[in-house]
Amino acid sequence: MATVVASEAFTGNPRRQLAKLFSVSLKLTVPDEPDVEPLVEPGKFGDYQCNNAMGLWSIIKGKGTEFRGPPAVGQALISSLPTSEMVESCSIAGPGFVNVVLSAKWMAKSIENMLINGIDTWAPTLSVKRAVVDFSSPNIAKEMHVGHLRSTIIGDTIARMLEYSNVEVLRRNHVGDWGTQFGMLIEYLFEQCPDTDSVTETAIGDLQVFYRKAKLKFDLDQEFKEKAHQAVVRLQGGDPVYHEAWAKICEISRNEFAKVYQSLRVELEEKTEWERETWMVVEESEGARVIFIDGFSIPLIVVKSDGGFNYASTDLTALWYRLNEEKAEWIIYVTDIGQQQHFNMFFKAARKAGWLPDNDQTYPRVSHVGFGLVLGADNKRFRTRATEVVRLADLLDEAKTRSKDALIERGKDKEWTLEELDQTAEAVGYGALKYADLKGNRSTGYTFSFDQMLSDKGDTAVYLLYAHARICSIIKKSGKDIDELKKTGKITLDHAAERALGLHLLQFAETVEEACTTLLPNVLCKYLYYLSEEFTKFYSNCQVNGSEEETSRLLLCEATAIVMRQCFHLLGITPVYKL
Ligand code: ARG
Repeated sequence: MATVVASEAFTGNPRRQLAKLFSVSLKLTVPDEPDVEPLVEPGKFGDYQCNNAMGLWSIIKGKGTEFRGPPAVGQALISSLPTSEMVESCSIAGPGFVNVVLSAKWMAKSIENMLINGIDTWAPTLSVKRAVVDFSSPNIAKEMHVGHLRSTIIGDTIARMLEYSNVEVLRRNHVGDWGTQFGMLIEYLFEQCPDTDSVTETAIGDLQVFYRKAKLKFDLDQEFKEKAHQAVVRLQGGDPVYHEAWAKICEISRNEFAKVYQSLRVELEEKTEWERETWMVVEESEGARVIFIDGFSIPLIVVKSDGGFNYASTDLTALWYRLNEEKAEWIIYVTDIGQQQHFNMFFKAARKAGWLPDNDQTYPRVSHVGFGLVLGADNKRFRTRATEVVRLADLLDEAKTRSKDALIERGKDKEWTLEELDQTAEAVGYGALKYADLKGNRSTGYTFSFDQMLSDKGDTAVYLLYAHARICSIIKKSGKDIDELKKTGKITLDHAAERALGLHLLQFAETVEEACTTLLPNVLCKYLYYLSEEFTKFYSNCQVNGSEEETSRLLLCEATAIVMRQCFHLLGITPVYKL
């Protein structure tokens, strides 16, 4: 039987590689069932397990098979498995699971290979070439709230994971910008500042406060309300004075958003070409143009009775543009879970129009990534004490200040330069904020707590950044040139703790792949946390510096540090090298 060629043997994705081997053995074992896909997953007893035997048995038992039950099918799968360097042994467990033990030698070689050729060689391969990630997406002139922060953090991580997996990602900020509120703001601006030439940032000052005052007036003053409606008409009619005021407000708003993106080092782009597309196959209902969708009692309104566009119309046009002009195969929307019905309806409308295939798993594909609320200590929607709203820039500042205070408390201001102190405070503070947001299953809410996220114990970014810095210092203390060692040194995985760490390292690629296909960043967080736990076990059981296995163990330290840094990178966290 064929031996798997060596070049293929170190792709750093054992799960996929084993699946390939089992697909060969499935074809040989049950040639009459060509459509059966191999089911390989991390094992409870072995390193991996193949779960096909039971399902296969139920398919073939009525068809006069020579096998006597699932264990026999499993045994046959083992016998037909192509010989490969990666597999040490296989055995049958329980009702017919095939347990696979990987060869420690192969595992070691795969890690050595990554050390020489880089972590990019471990990138998963996905079947999509181009994706849109629509995230953050605050609304012009309104506050950017913690919900937008969640969307920014989750969306950025999803984009990063896809980018690492060689998908071309169009990072899109679908900034909301609605007529009525602009009429109100422009009219208020003219009142506050009758000389339109002097309309500057200072005239508006704090846009959120300005917005609130304008809204108050709008709600109370009938005459003002009327003027605001007129302003919308003039704006849409192209009046230059109104257009200029609108542009100014947009600019101030965008500058505010940009500050947050800059702090968090998040890149994304606004694209509004699609706004010019006009089209639509819709029905009339009470003057509005709507799409009736099976399973929903209300129709999806795409053009309002006054001819105006709304959330659904912009989303439909943007989708059309993304599919047909930008040729994206996967369009991912990151918003709070409260918008799920909007997305369900709008996706169904697009299916009804024939833009998307009926099967929602086939490409081109759309996915709504919904997330839960950010809660305060009182278990209610998160707000700060001073104001009703949580100002994001302040929140980011506070994370940084608190982490700086903690570093100063530990005397780091005396050890480090001011710049080092500042950079570390920022990396830890923002890292903590992001990790706290990403580590739980996104569909549930989480409680915002600086104390918790900045704790150096438990599943926090601070703990993980410490773990990484500690590994770096172990390597440094050895006095060895790690880049030289990488080229010539060999890894052995004889001790159980070394082997367990090695196996976990090798499961990196399949973890990223799973996080991408399920769109769940917490899968990667969990992996990272376990990695640091496996490392701790290894380090407390196996002496590194000064031991006989020093070279091998230093290489394992280096591999762990590299994979940790790649996880940090994917989570948008800046690693630090000393803490
Ligand atoms: N602007 C919306 C909000 O603040 C989010 C937009 C999400 N993207 C989209 N294509 N609908 O909630």
